[in-house]
Amino acid sequence: MRTLADVAVEAAGCTKCRLASGRTQVVFGVGNPDADLLFVGEAPGFHEDKQGEPFVGAAGQLLTRMLREVLGREREDVYICNVLKCRPPGNRDPQDDEIDACTPWLIEQVSLIQPRVISTLGNFATKFVLNTQQGITRMRGRTYAWHGRTVIPTFHPAAILHGGGERSRQFGELVEDFELIRDTLAELERPPEPVVVPDAGSASSIEVEDQLQLF
Ligand code: URA
Repeated sequence: MRTLADVAVEAAGCTKCRLASGRTQVVFGVGNPDADLLFVGEAPGFHEDKQGEPFVGAAGQLLTRMLREVLGREREDVYICNVLKCRPPGNRDPQDDEIDACTPWLIEQVSLIQPRVISTLGNFATKFVLNTQQGITRMRGRTYAWHGRTVIPTFHPAAILHGGGERSRQFGELVEDFELIRDTLAELERPPEPVVVPDAGSASSIEVEDQLQLF
């Protein structure tokens, strides 16, 4: 069976769009291939392109901190990737044909990891995954059902860093969104309530069987 590692090896040689010629390397993704939680960002930046790992720059440090402080998790416990696997020159916005070329890698990642919850980081990933034109400020703060999973959009950590940092309203909302991710995962992991048989009272199934045999 094809594994995530097989897909990563194949993606490493990808030349399906113009970004292949300017990259240092493909930044496929990092983390637990069986993670229940997947983060999707926009595209690798300067540091990610150099190191081959998503979210390792300043924005990545804020993501790592939110993971630790709100979810009590490390980066290795979740999976982190981007819509685009190669850095656009000068960090410009991804172009439509680049997204089209790169989408199959993200689809394979989702279908092999099978995360319960996907958190889209920022406008770009949110618009792409949820197929919406609404901005992140309107979309964040709630859950969306998506192909049997739950999507929870939140701000891109870089937007927080550029927009006032920890004292900003958006920082508080980022924390709230991570709390929503934590609570949603806890709810999904809760075992189902035991089935109560109507009219059986407190009798166990053996007792019920005994009584039936009386007749
Ligand atoms: N911004 C992103 O969207 N992804 C990264 O990996 C780094 C910064």
